[in-house]
Amino acid sequence: MTQLAVQLNRLHLANPILVASGTFGYAREMAAYVDFSRLGGIIPKTITAQPRRGNPPPRTVETASGLLNSIGLDNDGIDYFIETHIPYLTSLRTAVIANIAGRNVDEFVRMAEQLNNVEGISGLELNISCPNVSGGVDFGTNPEMAADVVSSVRGACDFPVIAKLTPNVTSIVTIAQAAADAGADAVSLVNTFLGMAIDWRRRRPILGNKLGGLSGPAIKPLALRCVYQVAQSVDVPIIGVGGIGTIDDVMEFLVAGASAVQIGTANFYNPSVSERLVDELSGTLSEMKVHSVDEIVNAIH
Ligand code: FUM
Repeated sequence: MTQLAVQLNRLHLANPILVASGTFGYAREMAAYVDFSRLGGIIPKTITAQPRRGNPPPRTVETASGLLNSIGLDNDGIDYFIETHIPYLTSLRTAVIANIAGRNVDEFVRMAEQLNNVEGISGLELNISCPNVSGGVDFGTNPEMAADVVSSVRGACDFPVIAKLTPNVTSIVTIAQAAADAGADAVSLVNTFLGMAIDWRRRRPILGNKLGGLSGPAIKPLALRCVYQVAQSVDVPIIGVGGIGTIDDVMEFLVAGASAVQIGTANFYNPSVSERLVDELSGTLSEMKVHSVDEIVNAIH
């Protein structure tokens, strides 16, 4: 029997397959497609201190093997999340990792304190990497700011803290090191790559916000490179994310150094893929006669 459970510092997951923030709603939307109790965990859409309307439409464009989005952190705010979504999410018999974004360290800390009073949340993912809002990536592109927000949130709550990092930097290793030194239990690598789409006939950007974040299979080799580089030089558990949709993708990220993975854009074109990947991971590890996920994490030669 293969042991699928993984431990990322203080975060325990029944298996390493998570669903990524922003691609799974608040889970209700996916109930017809996925047995949530089979997943390692759910990361709902980013919440902010106040409700946000998000960016002007169009907000998504399909590209070659990818998806560009400029949602702009559209959400109903933390109070609504706690009242309306938390009771459902925490009834699902899987880990729930809340994803928060603040405009400054104080806002991150106040949200962490508020969630600390809520039963049933397993961890906090800090979105310091959203490319679609003003200042959204500031914390994730500056090592001192990344360290400040991670250590401040860690001091304000009892949750395992995960920093979700942007790839839109010169050295993701430097930012990951800063997050790890500040006490992050894990880093999620990576958020979307900044891109754009143009309607050349109208000579206009297609997205209402002009620029957006690229996700999906198109970014998989780039995300894999980030995971590999960080795993080679920073001692922190990594959650791989970026274009993962098949069991081969999952295995590549684990071997490159990820202890767990998030399924993101694939949820849009195959809503039940996350549950299927749990089965396929178990089968693949058994065939390899690997007894635990840990045995293959960072197993690259
Ligand atoms: O625009 C958005 O809501 C995207 C968020 C993100 O990539 O973190």
